[in-house]
Amino acid sequence: MSDIRRQVELAASAGMPVLITGESGTGKNVVAQSLHMLSGRRERAFVQVNCPSLPHSLIESELFGYEAGAFTGANRTRNGKVDQAQNGTLFLDEIGDLDASVQAKLLQVLQDFRFSRLGGTEERAVDIWLICATHRNLQADMKAGRFRSDLFYRINVVSIELPALRDHRSDVAMLLTHFLRHYEQKFGRSLAPLSGSVLKLLEAYHWPGNVRELENLVKRYVVLGNEQAIVEALHDSEAASTDSVFVPDGNLPLRIQTQRAVRMMERQIILRALNEHRWNRRKTAQSLDISYRALLYKIKDAGLPRLRQAHAHACSPEENDVHGELNGSGSRFRHDS
Ligand SMILES: Nc1ncnc2c1ncn2[C@@H]1O[C@H](COP(=O)(O)OP(=O)(O)OP(=O)(O)O)[C@@H](O)[C@H]1O
Ligand SMILES: [Mg+2]
Repeated sequence: MSDIRRQVELAASAGMPVLITGESGTGKNVVAQSLHMLSGRRERAFVQVNCPSLPHSLIESELFGYEAGAFTGANRTRNGKVDQAQNGTLFLDEIGDLDASVQAKLLQVLQDFRFSRLGGTEERAVDIWLICATHRNLQADMKAGRFRSDLFYRINVVSIELPALRDHRSDVAMLLTHFLRHYEQKFGRSLAPLSGSVLKLLEAYHWPGNVRELENLVKRYVVLGNEQAIVEALHDSEAASTDSVFVPDGNLPLRIQTQRAVRMMERQIILRALNEHRWNRRKTAQSLDISYRALLYKIKDAGLPRLRQAHAHACSPEENDVHGELNGSGSRFRHDS
């Protein structure tokens, strides 16, 4: 995350269009706001447009505004978001959802730095810093003809890719500390440090909802005041993901989708076998006819926390087997003995 922070600082000082990508909950909105706050435009407007929430028929007038009489019901001239963002920042969230006609008009704005309101003839000069975000794979959308490549290259001058939390687990402890402090302050509470076994569980978890999920979990802990709430939430999520079905993503090549489907199936099979054998990994390996080492590797690779064990630990801390091998902000975590 310190690497991302550096990228954000650089992008903020460069002032060129930025495209932020990442799974849901990885912090795209947080990054967009930080970019603005670190830029020379921080005193000016930060205007956010949530593209999918606007009907296609309205988005053009929402973005570019309209002149009185432009269409039925347009009885007075209205500024669009581009106008509101003058000299400031325009943040287009989920830009992958813009339809072709709006993509064309936006491209024109980025090429000429001029635009006109709907129904207007007057050309208006634009001075905005454009930041876009999407959870979609725009390159795949481009290949499939859903996103204009000329627009893609204009909005993607600087790109910031936010990794999924499962790909930077070493930041989990730091984020936990941050959210704990925040919610303790917000709710006026002070909590016992989290046990090492729960931190280990959190670091091993696969975080489908990324930072947002971690934040919600901490909030729940602060409100309910016991670790069991965290363990149970992870348990439920794990159980739900075991039963989940693979959802094909038309944006990705067949090879990648097949790989993902197979990995997901394998994960489910392993988790089921582990549960059958009460997380006895030797017996599980035997039943699956793979080596013990191969099973350990697959458990780690699939981000399967040792839920049963952690469950037992959270119930009776004296049984813990974690001996201070934890990293990060140690002061907030109890190293169980
Ligand atoms: N680096 C971070 N530091 C602190 N909080 C963060 C960080 N990243 C994300 N969050 C928190 O996680 C939550 C989700 O972040 P955000 O809304 O920016 O994600 P997103 O990528 O825009 O998600 P979506 O694709 O669903 O819109 C927010 O509550 C945000 O405050
Ligand atoms: Mg968002």
